[in-house]
Amino acid sequence: MKQIIEKLIRESISSINKDNSITPELLNNIRVDRTKDRAHGDFASNIAMMLAKPLKKNPRQIAQDIIDNIPSDPHISKIEIAGPGFINFFANKASIADALEEMNNDARLGVKKISNPDTIVVDYSAPNVAKEMAVHHIRSTVIGDAVVRVLEFLGNNVIRANHIGDWGTQFGMLIAYLEKKENESGAGMDLSDFEAFYREAKECYDTDEEFAVKARSYVVQLQGGDEYCRKMWKKLVTMTMVQNQKLYDRLDVTLSDKDIMGESLYNDMLPGVVEDLLNKGIAQEDQGAIVVYLPQFKNKEGKPLGNIIRKNDGGYLYTTTDIACIKYRVEKLKATRILYFTDSRQQQHLETVWAICEKAGYTNSKVSLEHCPFGMMLGKDGKPFKTRSGGTVKLRDVLDEAEARVKTLLADRNSTLSEADKKTVTHNIAMGAVKYADLCKNRTTDYIFDWDQMLSFEGNTAPYLQYAYSRIRAIFRKAEDIKPGKIIISCEAEEELANKLLAFSEAVYSVGNKALPNLLCNYLFELSNLFMHFYEACPVLKDTVDMETKQSRLALCEVTAKVLKQGLGLLGINVMEQM
Ligand code: ARG
Repeated sequence: MKQIIEKLIRESISSINKDNSITPELLNNIRVDRTKDRAHGDFASNIAMMLAKPLKKNPRQIAQDIIDNIPSDPHISKIEIAGPGFINFFANKASIADALEEMNNDARLGVKKISNPDTIVVDYSAPNVAKEMAVHHIRSTVIGDAVVRVLEFLGNNVIRANHIGDWGTQFGMLIAYLEKKENESGAGMDLSDFEAFYREAKECYDTDEEFAVKARSYVVQLQGGDEYCRKMWKKLVTMTMVQNQKLYDRLDVTLSDKDIMGESLYNDMLPGVVEDLLNKGIAQEDQGAIVVYLPQFKNKEGKPLGNIIRKNDGGYLYTTTDIACIKYRVEKLKATRILYFTDSRQQQHLETVWAICEKAGYTNSKVSLEHCPFGMMLGKDGKPFKTRSGGTVKLRDVLDEAEARVKTLLADRNSTLSEADKKTVTHNIAMGAVKYADLCKNRTTDYIFDWDQMLSFEGNTAPYLQYAYSRIRAIFRKAEDIKPGKIIISCEAEEELANKLLAFSEAVYSVGNKALPNLLCNYLFELSNLFMHFYEACPVLKDTVDMETKQSRLALCEVTAKVLKQGLGLLGINVMEQM
């Protein structure tokens, strides 16, 4: 429809553009958007306002001229001027029905693959080795995963990069402690409690000088490629990631072993990168350390901030790794777009890294580097979300609690589901609720973790959307041998629902462009509301309804169910036939 309307406007303008005062560039500016409010029709264009300045004419007059010269078209039933010069288009009901019919017959529901796919690296999840994933990791993991699914669906070549924290000086201490534990307990040590492990390792390091000496020598040996240290290090990485993988699987997150591209991957590149930055005059020596000064980042006294890329003891930093990492992603992986899902506090770190990479030519203007920051997770009291004793909340505990709460909620309902189905339903609702609570808010703001809100069957929640889906499936069970048929739009509620359904592809595209899954959540929520309204206003299977209408309404139910399933699927949330 948008393309049809754009073409009509272009034809109209060409016919009034006798003196060629409207240049081809101006014509390229024609934009048609779906209206927010149906009172303003289905589509609107602001082209008249765009032309007002170059034509030195009143925009409403231009709009009138355009309307007067628009060729008639069967898809459009009415065209109006509104406000300062908007042109509003009312779609013909029959053409809405046709478009929806086409959408229903398309496996991609009208979401076309993009014509020039990007190679997109999505840097997300990124937990640290020998630490348990905390609840805040859910933000990067779940939001990143939804965006990955959307970008892939749109036809891009997506590379998942799980930039795990698997390198650094702490590994000497961790290896020394792992060795100590293994000696004490024999092989087959269980490392289920990383928090205790890390704390005890640190304690030994701080209090036992002999241990500390060994730890320090292990760091050097590990960096030098010593086989024993490498083996112990690998053990720590594997133990951590085996546990994390269980959480990914439980959350239906699409990460696996092959996506691990941790900090250690770039270790061998670091000396060369520092050397290169020195040679290019971008870095300089300063009291034994190697530093990059960037004029755009200043300290309190207004002096350029120094960014250390090699310490005076020869050690490299988080920044150095991220510089090498960009070089790798651009040169080796041929990335044209790199998205970072990290919390907003890493903004300056990333901007620094990007500025250095641009100067060094490790990236170029054709590569889009995007920080997709997110805010903090807060408790109901508005303070950072912590356990009762003030510790970090473990992700595993949150998922356990979600399932326990859903089990209790469902126990009150009499249901005909089998035990196995009940288990699946519990899992899907619990994971869906936790994930959706994170996905549905604009990620850039802090967000309040609230069990009652996220598990509610009303409002903008996963259970509400999952329920909307199951309810539609129930209609089909009840319909038995009545099958969906030709779509006929006859009442207001049908038209509103149809128009919303047709906007699905725009919602998906917007998530791909802006890396904001909440745009799709909002769309699905609005769709479900419109469906509920349609369902109340337009009986589907009532005896008083004629067969043609029944079949048309069943078709509307069918497209809605497909869109809900596909949309929630792109968010990484499962739907159920019955719940
Ligand atoms: N491991 C880091 C953390 O837990 C996040 C890594 C983000 N990605 C990156 N390329 N720096 O904060």
